[in-house]
Amino acid sequence: MVKKAAQSILLCGFMGCGKTSVGQALSFRLKWDFLDTDTMIEKREGISIPEIFERFGEQEFRRMEMEVASQLGRRKNTVISTGGGFLTQEKTVQALRESANGFEAIVLLDCSFETCYQRIKNSDRPLVKNNTKEQLEEIFIKRQLQYRRVADVVILNEGIVSATVEQILREIPVL
Ligand code: S3P
Repeated sequence: MVKKAAQSILLCGFMGCGKTSVGQALSFRLKWDFLDTDTMIEKREGISIPEIFERFGEQEFRRMEMEVASQLGRRKNTVISTGGGFLTQEKTVQALRESANGFEAIVLLDCSFETCYQRIKNSDRPLVKNNTKEQLEEIFIKRQLQYRRVADVVILNEGIVSATVEQILREIPVL
């Protein structure tokens, strides 16, 4: 349970855990804005995430994520869906914390690897294209620790979206 009222709620978790659908439903429920860090990067660069990976490489994409993180803290009344690797980068977490000043609440949407995998296996996400199922599962396992280190609350998202939204609202006070 988070004690301080949050001005922004960030959703993190592995690809396919439901950050976008839960984020949109949560923002609708709160009448807050909705942002997606991947969409922000795509808009800024004018090309898609797969193209960014192809042209500039993953490292450059992570740098872009960090830049976006430093702007997120100024957002009020906003639900933010983050890319699956966003909060696994120390510098990105630091940039977010510095700009948000403690008014952000981070929610980990918990989901089994198999559920995530079934949702992402046919997508054009670079990590999915460039890794086998076994390699993705290794990344999944490693990231669980990283997500849990930054998350204020962990919410299971294996059922219906509206139930997840209500569970988040029970755990996080908002103004
Ligand atoms: C990534 C997840 C993607 C996107 C990029 C890298 C990752 O976002 O940011 O392809 O490293 O897990 P979603 O989690 O929204 O699919």
